[in-house]
Amino acid sequence: MERFYHIVTYGCQMNVHDSERIAGMLSELGYSETYSIEDADIIVFNTCCIRENAENHFFGNLGALKKLKEKKKGLIIAAGGCLTQQDGMAETVHKKFPFVDIVFGTHNLEKLKDYILQKHDGYKKSIIRIESDTGVIYEGEPLRSSYPNAWVNITFGCNNFCTYCIVPFVKGRERSRKSENILSECESLLKEGYKEITLLGQNVNSYNNGSDDIPFSALLEKIGAMEGKFRLRFMTSHPKDFSEDIARAMAGSDKICNAIHLPVQSGSDRILKAMNRHYTRSDYLRKIDILKKNIPDCAVSTDIIVGFPGETDEDFKDTLSLVREVGYHSAFTFVYSPRNGTPAAKMENQIPEDVKKERIMELVSLVNDKTRKISEEYVGKETEILVEDRDDKRELYFGRDEKGRMGYFESDKNEIGNFVTVKINRANGVSLMGEKV
Ligand code: SAH
Ligand code: SF4
Ligand code: F3S
Repeated sequence: MERFYHIVTYGCQMNVHDSERIAGMLSELGYSETYSIEDADIIVFNTCCIRENAENHFFGNLGALKKLKEKKKGLIIAAGGCLTQQDGMAETVHKKFPFVDIVFGTHNLEKLKDYILQKHDGYKKSIIRIESDTGVIYEGEPLRSSYPNAWVNITFGCNNFCTYCIVPFVKGRERSRKSENILSECESLLKEGYKEITLLGQNVNSYNNGSDDIPFSALLEKIGAMEGKFRLRFMTSHPKDFSEDIARAMAGSDKICNAIHLPVQSGSDRILKAMNRHYTRSDYLRKIDILKKNIPDCAVSTDIIVGFPGETDEDFKDTLSLVREVGYHSAFTFVYSPRNGTPAAKMENQIPEDVKKERIMELVSLVNDKTRKISEEYVGKETEILVEDRDDKRELYFGRDEKGRMGYFESDKNEIGNFVTVKINRANGVSLMGEKV
């Protein structure tokens, strides 16, 4: 009898890739993927706790499964990832939703397979297993579902302890994969026909810090020198560890995209210090100068938090002026969300919700203005799109250009995985419409 799995993923790209690992395990156990939750024999939630709304989504979706679980005998429900790894959260999930069969964390992801086998063997009770930071480095085979793009982990965990952030508490200390394993994974991906590789880590710039293996810039150079037509990206960069040798490596290979995600978080020195980011506004701007000196047309994107404890109108204005000064290609903007166990959650001067709301609206409108302007500059020009998929409703193929702009066009043949030169006729916010040339 055929058995099906359905995975629900929350959070960042690293979680999306962890879900590809989970898919790898499930496929080894003989399950195939289904898009319909009702058809699934196992449902796995890969959770996130970076902000409060991520938690709320998960709890909402999990609660909605109670009826299905009662109706469908033998259905296995599992929940793991960052949220369940948080102190005491696995027990909370078990108490609130006793019908969940398996709860696991971030450090025992690869044991999920054993837990499922236990269930197959008829183990009746819920399996609640959380491990502390074991320094695990995953080398298991993921089942990729993102062709022509492939995600490759280079580091796990984070040592930075930004005061607002839960990640170091749930993902453990930073550890780097051996460069030989990364290089051979990239070689095989290119052989298999993948066209874009994105190196993943919470702070890729500190890859192999303090080890005798090669630094990040050398890793970029080695992958950038591989044969074939493909694109290389990486995320996330931390401004404190971004150095000129990385900019040089980027400039030295036409495979490495002229684009970087360099989260700034705030434009105010006072707030940056309180966030424990280890750079000032002028340090950050100096890094942007280094980047632009080496790659004049480099597209820079960022993450920004508004409403960090103690943020004054002045501090917020500094963020707005920095956004104007850098001219980001795009930016992810977040309202500060207190996370239990982080230093910022205990700080005085938490900012009232209405002030946060006002600030985020002002910031979003500034960011969108610039994004729109950059998109409009494309009109009449050609850009090369790596086609990711087809929007069947609109009957259009779509994919990104080197700078990360999404472009749409028509074609009467299957273009997925092709590099297609598109002449842009129209800009629509962050996306571009054009025709094949
Ligand atoms: N390692 C990356 C990304 C971490 S999470 C980095 O250092 O930039 C992605 C983004 O979520 C962060 O850049 C930050 O802008 C945002 N974020 C993290 N914790 C947050 C919190 N408690 N409230 C609001 N936004 C947060
Ligand atoms: Fe969180 Fe800071 Fe680490 Fe990024 S660098 S994951 S924001 S602690
Ligand atoms: Fe990612 Fe969320 Fe964990 S952003 S690292 S899945 S807390």
